[in-house]
Amino acid sequence: MAKVKKAFFCQSCGTQHTQWQGQCNACKAWNTLAEELIQKASSTENWSGSSSQKTPKPILLHEVDTTQIPRIKTNDSELDRVLGGGLVPGAVVLLGGEPGIGKSTLLLQLSLTIKRKVLYVSGEESQQQIKLRANRMGLTADSCYLLSQTETLKIFDQIPQLQPELVIFDSIQTLHTPQIESGAGSVSQIKACAAELIKYAKTNNTPVILVGHITKDGAIAGPKILEHMVDTVLQFEGDRNHIYRILRANKNRFGATSEIGIYEMQTQGLREVKNPSEVLISTKSQTLSGHAIAATVEGIRPMMIEVQALVSSAVYGTPQRSATGFNAKRLNMLLAVLEKRAGFALGSKDVFINITGGIALEDPALDLAVVAALLSSYHDVPIPQQLCFAAEIGLSGEIRPVAKADLRIQEAAKLGFEQVAISKFTKVGNAGLKIEKVLLETVGSLVDFLF
Ligand code: TYD
Ligand code: MG
Repeated sequence: MAKVKKAFFCQSCGTQHTQWQGQCNACKAWNTLAEELIQKASSTENWSGSSSQKTPKPILLHEVDTTQIPRIKTNDSELDRVLGGGLVPGAVVLLGGEPGIGKSTLLLQLSLTIKRKVLYVSGEESQQQIKLRANRMGLTADSCYLLSQTETLKIFDQIPQLQPELVIFDSIQTLHTPQIESGAGSVSQIKACAAELIKYAKTNNTPVILVGHITKDGAIAGPKILEHMVDTVLQFEGDRNHIYRILRANKNRFGATSEIGIYEMQTQGLREVKNPSEVLISTKSQTLSGHAIAATVEGIRPMMIEVQALVSSAVYGTPQRSATGFNAKRLNMLLAVLEKRAGFALGSKDVFINITGGIALEDPALDLAVVAALLSSYHDVPIPQQLCFAAEIGLSGEIRPVAKADLRIQEAAKLGFEQVAISKFTKVGNAGLKIEKVLLETVGSLVDFLF
């Protein structure tokens, strides 16, 4: 009989300890060690192991065959774009995201539209529940097989006769392998199940997509090593109260991580948003104060985004500062710059910032639009609708250039903007565009230009 081994695993970072202690040695978290039974797999290889695999030999770089990595198109252009052109056979993709954000919806939609034989394994929902969801989305397919099962060996029993071309597991935290004795979702279970799935994907050259739960800090639950083991890590994010969702690649062994996909959650499932700029700018007949358009770039995708600001006298003693979709610390910094460098007394004002669509962006080029929106609300003077902004603001009130300026200006020109406010030091190439560049140097020059 195999020897039963016990160890203590940190439930937050996955580090193994030989004995219990209050604090994890690696991540320094307190009270995260839990005892788990680990039983070494017996000498007989489990189903997914193939001892007949050829031992690879070292070869010269220029001898490596790169004719091309074949891609499986998913019929979802946003997902294909994020994956770097489609699914790669044998690749393992991990999809993380908050509960209820739409991970299962995205993957079921994929299974029903990809036109290949798919096995959708769910440990979270019954086949009836999945069918109801498919009905709600108005989709059906004759090549999508559903399986409600959590035990890996029982899942793999079904695979040889089915020969699926894509396998989806929803979710890795519900899977359980009898090789390990601890409960589903524990660090050693996740590690062992992921290893089995990866082995399956590589030996059968079948792509596998795993859903991963996330912790309250936004990291994928389970050991960090899970993210190292898979080929691609995707993150599905957005504000659950808004309809827009962003799909990002945090890691991709088969493509760049700079692409994003944008979806709109509708009652009949997720719809791809092909032209984000048009939906993210709210349509209005008259110009209102406190609105400014930023020419942002997420990865390499330009997007025009509307920033709304409201500056009003504080009713209570301490003024409120609130930012939705924008970093609150960054907002405080911009307010301090306005106060110190441009002489605006904002210390006694309530300030609210909202990025429309509930999309949280990290692009520094939003700074100028945020400041313009704040000033516009402060003076109650609208900003012309045909003007947009793209620049970062420094601590001394200087307006700094941002990356990919050409891309931003092109997008603005394409959407009919007539003026774009950028830093004086921006290096721009495209001369032929019908858009005027307003070159600014300091926050003061922005104030002079606007009012
Ligand atoms: P779900 O995909 O189950 O999220 P996850 O797997 O990430 O936990 O659910 C997403 C939410 O979207 C759910 O609360 C209901 C809603 N929804 C729609 O608005 N329209 C739809 O067509 C579907 C299927 C779900
Ligand atoms: Mg789900």
